[in-house]
Amino acid sequence: MGLSALAYPGRVASRREWQIDSLDGSYLVKVNLYAAICWLGIFFAIPAFAQDPGEATFKLKCAMCHGADGLSNTPAGKVLKAASFKDAGVLNKSEAELISIVKTGKNKMPAFGDKLSEDQIKSAVAYIHTLQK
Ligand code: HEC
Repeated sequence: MGLSALAYPGRVASRREWQIDSLDGSYLVKVNLYAAICWLGIFFAIPAFAQDPGEATFKLKCAMCHGADGLSNTPAGKVLKAASFKDAGVLNKSEAELISIVKTGKNKMPAFGDKLSEDQIKSAVAYIHTLQK
């Protein structure tokens, strides 16, 4: 995603340059236009890089049950009885306990130990804490 966002301004710029060339060939207009399109590319590329890996993993693998807000207020979360991450039972668990639940599963909570790396699990649990505030 990041790469294509970076490649995009270049493609647009070369097409625009050609169009302007055929109109008046003004060098300054071309340079300004190219700079503006580069800034636009950077502007759109930054959000793609800013997302932390824990958030990306959570949205991809966990949010369908626990919800993007971590309140587990989703159809699957309700059926499977997933608790809100803001519940005392979750808030009182240690980091190690939470990581272990994600790795080995618990009741209807699937195990992710063989699907995600240690780092992915740790960063997803770290991201959960940002939803508990
Ligand atoms: C298929 C639905 C589903 C998915 C996907 C899912 N969970 Fe769960 N999760 C549950 C359920 C149901 C529970 C409640 C387990 C229990 O206590 O009975 C739970 C519990 C938890 C708990 C412990 C909360 C507590 O009550 O102690 C954590 C932490 C957790 N999930 C994190 C994650 C993370 C991180 C992911 C993604 C890597 C994830 N879950 C993906 C259904 C899901």
